Amino acid sequence: MAILVFDSGIGGLGVVAALNQLAPSLPLSYLADNGFFPYGEKPDEILLPHILRVIGEAVAREQPEAVVIACNTASTIALAALRGAFALPFIGCVPPIKPAAAASRTRCIGVLATAATVRRPYLNGLIETFAPDCAVLTLGTPHLAELAEQKFRGATVDISQAAAPLFTQPGGNAIDSVALGCTHYTFLLPEFLALWPSISWHDPAFPVAKQTLKIIEPLGLSQAPRTARFTGDILAPDLLVPFGLEPDFNPA
Ligand code: DGL
Repeated sequence: MAILVFDSGIGGLGVVAALNQLAPSLPLSYLADNGFFPYGEKPDEILLPHILRVIGEAVAREQPEAVVIACNTASTIALAALRGAFALPFIGCVPPIKPAAAASRTRCIGVLATAATVRRPYLNGLIETFAPDCAVLTLGTPHLAELAEQKFRGATVDISQAAAPLFTQPGGNAIDSVALGCTHYTFLLPEFLALWPSISWHDPAFPVAKQTLKIIEPLGLSQAPRTARFTGDILAPDLLVPFGLEPDFNPA
């Protein structure tokens, strides 16, 4: 196969949708480690070896020419180790602090992510580099990724209780721009916009897709069927049709 796109669940499908818009029918396969979801609630010392193992098996099986880690939680903990372990281009995904800071007039921005991403030193590095003059308020939540999974499967979800603490914390009413630091939240953008229409919301799906195309351009990709594999429950095939993917029924 050509490109492997990886996430702990449905989140990376937002990156697949962005890739499909920018480069229709790019040869790619999708791997959801949903048997181990949610990553954001697992300790680092469990997650890091687990991610290395799952990606290692996928690389051996599929021989991709590049891997997109379409998961902030996995990228912030494992990207450096993955790049050290495999002689392949890895494209990661980090909270879009730079565009969120650029869009802020109040110089107070929010970061919504999983608990694991919010506690990572990597996030502090991004803030120091891209938002040194901003107050940055964060919310690490276990609930939003799960709500995104439910919505993806057709449920009507209410995200207000899970997301409101970002704005109700001290100083939170000054936030005018929010970086979405979890790829699952792409699928909750309509809900965020409906509840907080005056906020500028920043989703990483398109920036990650653009970066992927830049990196893979010189690679000359092989043709391959576009399949999606799951380490847990397999998504209903009709949910994958809009992404141009077919379920691979072999256990991951
Ligand atoms: N999609 C993952 C991310 O971008 C997180 C979901 C999870 O907790 O597994 O961080």
